[in-house]
Amino acid sequence: MDSDALHATVVGQYQRHVNPALAKLMAFAGFGVEVQGEGCWITDHDGRKFLDCLGGYGVFSLGHRNPTVVEAVRAQLDRMPLSGKAFFNAAQGALAEKLASLAPGDLEFTFFCNSGAEACEAALKFAKGATGRAKIVSTEGGYHGKTLGALAATGRSKYRKPFEPLMPGVQFVPYGDAEALAAAVDGETACVIVEPIQGEGGIHVPPDGYLASAREVCDRAGALLIFDEVQTGLGRTGTMFACEHEGVAPDLMTLAKCLGGGVMPIGALMGTRAVWDKVFSENPIAHSSTFGGNALACAAGLAALEVVERDGLCARAQVMGGKLVAGLQTVRAAQPELIAEVRGRGLMVGVEFAMDEVGELVVAQMMKRGVCVAYTLNNPRVIRFEPPLIISEAEVDLAVRVFGEAVAETAELIAELV
Ligand SMILES: Cc1ncc(COP(=O)(O)O)c(C=O)c1O
Repeated sequence: MDSDALHATVVGQYQRHVNPALAKLMAFAGFGVEVQGEGCWITDHDGRKFLDCLGGYGVFSLGHRNPTVVEAVRAQLDRMPLSGKAFFNAAQGALAEKLASLAPGDLEFTFFCNSGAEACEAALKFAKGATGRAKIVSTEGGYHGKTLGALAATGRSKYRKPFEPLMPGVQFVPYGDAEALAAAVDGETACVIVEPIQGEGGIHVPPDGYLASAREVCDRAGALLIFDEVQTGLGRTGTMFACEHEGVAPDLMTLAKCLGGGVMPIGALMGTRAVWDKVFSENPIAHSSTFGGNALACAAGLAALEVVERDGLCARAQVMGGKLVAGLQTVRAAQPELIAEVRGRGLMVGVEFAMDEVGELVVAQMMKRGVCVAYTLNNPRVIRFEPPLIISEAEVDLAVRVFGEAVAETAELIAELV
C-alpha cells in the first residue's frame, strides 16, 4: 500500500469505527499516520520526520524505543508476559521495591494498574476507605483523568457536565491558593488531590510553600494528601518527583505515563503502610486489576527507572529545560503582544498566548515545520513543550527556531485578518 493509500485507509477506519468527530479534527489539522519512533523523532506515513516536543503528553521521557527498556520487555516477553494470577510475580515485587526506595516520605507500598486515570481512581477510593470520609478537595484546572471517579475530581466543567451526576462530595479551589485550600479542608475531608505542577491546567508552578501548606492543612484535619505525579514524576521537572522541590511527602502518590519507559502502559498508586492497612487488612482484594502489575509492564518500569538514574536524566531535564526556557523567552521578547508568558520547571514547559486560538495556529505551523507540540487539555491558550529528557542541545535549538518561525507566521496571519 502506498503512503497516501495508507493515510486514506486509516483516516477512513477512524471515521467509521473509532471516533468520527476526532477523525475529522485530526484530518483537518493535517495529521499523518505515525509509522516509527526513534529517540526524539517520529516518522509518519510519508517518511516525514517530526521532532517530538509533545512526548506523548509526558510518556516519552526516555525517547522512543529506548534500547534498555525494549530489551527488558523482549526478555520478559520470551519468558512470561502476563501473570497467571495464582502465582507471585517477580517483576511486580522488584518494581514495587525499587519505587519504595525512590519515593519521598513513607510511601512503601504500590498498587499497579494500567493508566493515570486508574491510578487516580484508586487514590480517591483508598482515601475514602482509609479515612471513612467522603469529601474530596481538588483544584480548578486540575486534571486527573476521564473515568467517572477521576473525572469527578478533574477541574474543568466542559468534561464533567455531560456526564453528571458524578461522584458527589468534590469541592474545587483555585490552584496555588493556600488560603482557599485551608478554608475548604475540614474534619469531613477524606483527601486533597493536587498536582505538584498543574499540567493540563496550563503548566502552572505553584507559589513556594503551597505544597507544604497543603501538607499542614491535611495533617490538621486528619485528611490524606494525594500528589498526582502522573505527568510530573520520574525526572520530568528536574527531580525524580516534583514534590521534592518543596521537600514535601504525600500519603498517596500516583504515577503513570513515563513509568513504562515509553514502551509499555502502566499506572501506579503508592501509599503508606497506614493507608494500606486500612484498605487491605480485612480484604486483601479490596482493590485489584487483572492486568495491573503485569510482568511486561513491570519489566519496562524497572528498566525505565534504571535508565533515569544511570543516564542522569533528572539533571539533564534541568539543564535542557533551562536552555529551552531561555530560547522561548527570546521569542517572547520579539513577540510580546502575542506571547503572555513562558513558564515551567525542567522539561515541563508551557507558553501562554495573549489571545484564544493563537495556540492552535502556532501548533499547526510547528507541525508543518516538523516539530510536534500540543496545547494543554484544560487550557487551550497554553501550548506545552514536554520533549524526551534525552533531547540534545541541537534539538532544543531546532525547537526554539521553529517556534520562533511559527509565531512570526501566525502574527502575519493575524495581521492580515484584522
Ligand atoms: C496529572 C494527570 N493525572 C492523570 C492523568 C490521566 O492519565 P491517563 O490519560 O493515563 O488516564 C493525566 C493525563 O494527562 C495527568 O496529566
